Amino acid sequence: MIIAIDGPAAAGKGTLARRLADRFRLAFLDTGRLYRAVGVKLARSGLDVSDVETAVALASEVTAADLDDQELKSEAAANAASRVAAMPEVRAALVDFQRAFASNPPGGAMGAVLDGRDIGTVICPDADVKLFVTARIEVRARRRVKELRERGLEAIYDRVLHEMKERDARDSERHVSPLVPAEDSFVIDTSDLDVTAALVAAVKYVSSRKLSG
Ligand code: DC
Repeated sequence: MIIAIDGPAAAGKGTLARRLADRFRLAFLDTGRLYRAVGVKLARSGLDVSDVETAVALASEVTAADLDDQELKSEAAANAASRVAAMPEVRAALVDFQRAFASNPPGGAMGAVLDGRDIGTVICPDADVKLFVTARIEVRARRRVKELRERGLEAIYDRVLHEMKERDARDSERHVSPLVPAEDSFVIDTSDLDVTAALVAAVKYVSSRKLSG
């Protein structure tokens, strides 16, 4: 079983994806980490983040071990990721990694949950279940501020909101694989839902799809 979860930043899709994977014993891939890994490597190399050729070379060399780098969690990594994610060549170079994970999940799992921006539309268009997890931007910015402060980082709401708007625009307006809900996705708006309520809604939908499939 393949579950594709897409949606904007801080909508709660990562938490939901992880919990669904636990619940249904599936492998989990946070595909944002692939773009973050490329962005961070590019920044570390001291090269311009708009250097497409190097970004593609780095993307084709990404391994599972690169995805554990703690630096991937930073806002700098998120911003670098959204820039390299707008490069069609980088996206193309990361397709195989994601599809291989879905078709041959690690640990002998019977399927996989992948979360990102284009999983249901481009990477796994035949996924058994497609969820689009979203929330109002003010709610997402507040969540991100809380998360950053919990990590001991300074976070100013207005700045986080501004950067989130910019990132949303880059992700949604790019020509290749823009962030849009797949036509056959089930939309979960988490603005007024806590983690448990979102999980309940998702489990109910996944179970109904399993029964009908
Ligand atoms: O989900 P995230 O915040 O870790 O994603 C980081 C950036 O990578 C984000 O700006 C969008 C981009 N991304 C993407 O374009 N496609 C994906 N499948 C996952 C992430």
